Amino acid sequence: MINRRIVLAARPQGVPTADAFRIEEAPVPELGEGEVLLRNRVFAIDPAVRGMLDDVKSYLPSVPIGGLIPTMVLGEVVASRNPDFREGDFGRAFIGWENYSVIAPDSVAFENVAVAPDLPLTVYMGAAGWSGITAYVGLKRYGEMREGDEVLVSAAAGAVGSVAGQVARLCGCRVIGTVGTAQKSRAIVEDLGFHGAIDYRAAPDLGAEIDRHFPSGIDLYFDNVGGATLDAVLPRMKAFGRIPVCGMVSNYNHQTDPYRLANIWQVLVNRITMRGFLAYEAADLIEEAQARLTGWIRSGELVATENVATGIEAAPEAFIRLMSGQTSGKTLVRLDDAVTTLADWPLPGAA
Ligand SMILES: NC(=O)c1ccc[n+]([C@@H]2O[C@H](COP(=O)([O-])OP(=O)(O)OC[C@H]3O[C@@H](n4cnc5c(N)ncnc54)[C@H](OP(=O)(O)O)[C@@H]3O)[C@@H](O)[C@H]2O)c1
Repeated sequence: MINRRIVLAARPQGVPTADAFRIEEAPVPELGEGEVLLRNRVFAIDPAVRGMLDDVKSYLPSVPIGGLIPTMVLGEVVASRNPDFREGDFGRAFIGWENYSVIAPDSVAFENVAVAPDLPLTVYMGAAGWSGITAYVGLKRYGEMREGDEVLVSAAAGAVGSVAGQVARLCGCRVIGTVGTAQKSRAIVEDLGFHGAIDYRAAPDLGAEIDRHFPSGIDLYFDNVGGATLDAVLPRMKAFGRIPVCGMVSNYNHQTDPYRLANIWQVLVNRITMRGFLAYEAADLIEEAQARLTGWIRSGELVATENVATGIEAAPEAFIRLMSGQTSGKTLVRLDDAVTTLADWPLPGAA
């Protein structure tokens, strides 16, 4: 069996371009004890990977030139030397852009995913996968969300932000989102039920626009972007407000020259609890998050927005579009054209 994989050809400068990536072929490795071979079905395309393409220190290791581009994969088990995985199960882990992945108990976020036949497979990589889990644990654990909170979410039309806003609303909060286009503003209000939207690119004075939506201040700011938006938010937090720091995507394309915050002093002025988090470290909340998210998706209370490209060759372009703000909802690459739900996709051995 031949594995097709996409590797780093050159370090990108700014927004990545296609020449940063190269496709190559390699044999599928033999399985060792405890390992599982996946035929990958869906890649999650994530902004954090942009940071790994630079040679700078982060919470994830830098990718060497020629190294596999990392990503969360969801694949069907085609061979297993692990008693917890059988052929036909679905495995998920942080591996990379390749057709076949070997996952092992020490792979990041290694998991046997119980996929339900009535849900599209893609939701397990978006609203019911790590994007949704991140939104849920970020609000609940690190944002200490309470009913009645006034909540601001940035990158609110994106994978994590779109779920965070909906979860906050479902939990009894008033929620406003910041987004980068008028079309995204309309979508988060009309399709996702946000109480309001701020187009941060169109607002001549972002602070004044936030004041208009939050005359008495913000209880909880779910920060996906950092930079100028965070700077505008800090003086507008209520006393004892909370800021779960999920990501700082506004800096990812130029990490060596990040935005310099002018208002960080406001953390003290407003006695703000500001806390960075990695969703997979909230291990005790993950089962609850998955159960509630799939419940809301099934009942129609939570809309799982996705933009899905097809075929491994589409991964670089999907990533470039994500990193230039052109996407809404979860950005995914599906490797099997015909499959939408498990019902369309009989497991091996099924009639
Ligand atoms: N902590 C964790 O465990 C964890 C897990 C998953 C993801 N994350 C983080 O969560 C954040 C969102 O990730 P995602 O997967 O949901 O991506 P996403 O929101 O679907 O896509 C990124 C969005 O960021 C916005 N953006 C880009 N440049 C910006 C800028 N200069 N200022 C403001 N917004 C900008 C764009 O939306 P607009 O057009 O609206 O600007 C873009 O669509 C990222 O920071 C990511 O690293 C953290």
